[in-house]
Amino acid sequence: MNSQYRDLAITDWQGYRFTPPALAKIAEWQYANWYPTVNDVLIASYPKTGTTWLTQIVKKVIYMNDTAQMAVANAVTQLHSYLENASEITFEVMQKLPWKRLIWETHYPAPIVNMDRVKKTSCKVIYIVRNPKDQLVSWFHMSQRIPTHRMAPINSYYPADWVSFFDFFINGKQPNYARKNEWYPDHILSWYAYHNEKNVLFVMYEDLKEDPAKEIRKIANFLGVERSYEEIEKIVEATSFQTMKKEASPLTSSMNLLRKGQVGDWKNYFTVAQSELMDQKFHEKLSGIDLEFTYE
Ligand code: A3P
Repeated sequence: MNSQYRDLAITDWQGYRFTPPALAKIAEWQYANWYPTVNDVLIASYPKTGTTWLTQIVKKVIYMNDTAQMAVANAVTQLHSYLENASEITFEVMQKLPWKRLIWETHYPAPIVNMDRVKKTSCKVIYIVRNPKDQLVSWFHMSQRIPTHRMAPINSYYPADWVSFFDFFINGKQPNYARKNEWYPDHILSWYAYHNEKNVLFVMYEDLKEDPAKEIRKIANFLGVERSYEEIEKIVEATSFQTMKKEASPLTSSMNLLRKGQVGDWKNYFTVAQSELMDQKFHEKLSGIDLEFTYE
């Protein structure tokens, strides 16, 4: 293990690690105080799997013909709609807004979200999965730029070179929202436990790249929203990487949330040994579930 890893102050809640430790208290408060409704949509993901993209798609599917609601949705998503950022005020304001539907986002693993309430209300959940090699390269780039979801001062403990960054995750050092020695595959498993529920949809980043119209139609059907062929085509265009990059807010740009948007960029970073180790680690954890990654 690389000696440059700092000892982090980590606290446990429900067996999950949080740093800075205050985040554990915040998560506990959110667990107790988040009340989804049947109209809500929760976008759940591990970081760097296409969360921003999926959120934009869901916003367009729901609000594309409603400029006023879209304006509010644009103002709220990206920052305030993250469960892990939510405070008393956020919950109050979000829940008072005249929304048709409320869109929440989270990077929490499922046990940290109040799934009993999700089940009871049938709030819709969409979980996006991306192949773990592109995910890690994407996170590597983001970690060099900014603190993510209150993980500041992230830059001081995320290794700055690729080899150490890779080791950090593969050796189970993820400091947040994972149990000891856990990381992305465990996050997937935590949500996969719900994949058969009728209010839960799994979407793959690579399928969205391959055939966005097909996947967007699937999302619209799941949300119970009827969209014509022309409307789906408009959403495809409005949520393409090029369009989103062109229209990115200063916040989105500063967070490097639209970097390359490709499948297979990992090949520019992974050595053969790293790639094989990653395959092995994922196989160990996920061989029992019906989920296949696309790497190119
Ligand atoms: P890269 O860093 O590989 O480019 P998240 O929103 O979960 O943080 O994920 C960010 C990743 O999703 C980034 O990957 C980003 O470029 C990619 N992404 C965002 N919008 C996209 C889009 N419209 N099409 C394809 N990829 C997109």
